[in-house]
Amino acid sequence: MGQPAPAFPAALDLLEKGKAIAVFENLDTEEQQELLQSLCSEEILHILENMSPFVGFCHSNRNDKVYLKEVKPGQRLVLPGIDVAIYLDNAATSFPKPESVYRAVDHYLREVGASAGRGAYRRGLQADRLVYAARTALARLFNVPDASRIVFTANATEAINLALKGLLAPGDEVVTSSMEHNAVWRPLKRLERERGVRIRSIKCARDGSLDLKQVEEAVGKGTKMVVTTHASNLTGTLMPVAEIAQIAHRHGVIMMVDAAQTAGAYPIDIQALDIDLLAFTGHKALFGPPGTGGLYIAPHLLPEPLKEGGTGAESLLEEQPPTLPERYEAGTPNTAGLAGLGAGVEFILQEGVEKIQRREKELLRSALEELAAVPHITIYGPRDPEKQMGVISFNLEQIPADEVAYLLDSVYGIMVRTGMHCAPQAHSTVGTLETGAVRMGLGYFNTENDLASLANALKEISREMAR
Ligand SMILES: Cc1ncc(COP(=O)(O)O)c(C=O)c1O
Repeated sequence: MGQPAPAFPAALDLLEKGKAIAVFENLDTEEQQELLQSLCSEEILHILENMSPFVGFCHSNRNDKVYLKEVKPGQRLVLPGIDVAIYLDNAATSFPKPESVYRAVDHYLREVGASAGRGAYRRGLQADRLVYAARTALARLFNVPDASRIVFTANATEAINLALKGLLAPGDEVVTSSMEHNAVWRPLKRLERERGVRIRSIKCARDGSLDLKQVEEAVGKGTKMVVTTHASNLTGTLMPVAEIAQIAHRHGVIMMVDAAQTAGAYPIDIQALDIDLLAFTGHKALFGPPGTGGLYIAPHLLPEPLKEGGTGAESLLEEQPPTLPERYEAGTPNTAGLAGLGAGVEFILQEGVEKIQRREKELLRSALEELAAVPHITIYGPRDPEKQMGVISFNLEQIPADEVAYLLDSVYGIMVRTGMHCAPQAHSTVGTLETGAVRMGLGYFNTENDLASLANALKEISREMAR
């Protein structure tokens, strides 16, 4: 096993004393990756488990610093590309999925195979049933009386585009918040440009919270729709959607909610909340595969479709059928994805969404406590499990967010997301437009240990960088 030339005297010293077995100058080259692979063979891992202490080094080629990682006996060495470690990016997409989701996708692809809504033979009907099961499970979860009012889309983005572009006409006004994802903001900006739709964006407080008085003031005669996220994907801040819906409906205005972050993790009852349009994505807290999502459309609304094409029925019509869900589901559906989504939603119904919410709140409380103890950290958002979901964004003083995330991944095997999170308006509200932020998104399958590991890693990074 050829070792790279040790580049750092301190590291070399430890290497000579037998306290380190390698020094990695650059974790990105293929050669180094191969070396790491060989270091992580079962045999070596066994040796490591009995060695005390083992110190591995890596050299961040971004800022020319050396980082140390001590691996205690019995602890598994986590190196990039080798070990699936701690996944804390559930706000982007959930991982892992419940076992039943993997089984449902596999079952459809191997044992059903036929296209849904297209064939009258038995396998075709079996595929139909899988799609129907996903739709009815979602209707139960969201308390939708008529499941056909839930139409499937590729993701929340497509659902939001469908609702906004299908309903807003020239001159209409939309009231929204400054915490929206680009999935809301970009279609609105296009509608502003192309149809003269007027946007009234309410500036939220620095913790992402929305003042209802400002909603009251903004919603007026010309308003056609209020659209808000249910929870910010940057700060986790929960929006008071029931109260906003009351204001909207008092003015005869459509109430639309982007539930990309909350669906599956937070109870949503469209009747109790009085929501007219609910956009959701399948691959986050609903535990479905990517490529799934949908829109609930209240019975009094009939948006123009985003796309036209085959529906498997009513083929003689030259236009999309007026009936739901066919009107909005042109083209062969993602039956494999929907089979998985159905299984994900069934899992949630069996566990109970309240139980999931309680567990995530416990984890969130623990994460907030752990992170608060990290030196030089700034945490954005409410920092209150009652006011936010399991998403926390933060920065370490003097260390760029990208660098923190890189180290978390490459040295500690912890996966988080940095950058703008597709929500520049939200970053601007919070005051992080220039710097970006590190975001951890916890999920139902995370443990307190994962959060303690994140906090410990951040403490080490903070300490190392201060040296
Ligand atoms: C608040 C919010 N809205 C919309 C979306 C878009 O979801 P998707 O990428 O699944 O369409 C996301 C995804 O990150 C989100 O967090």
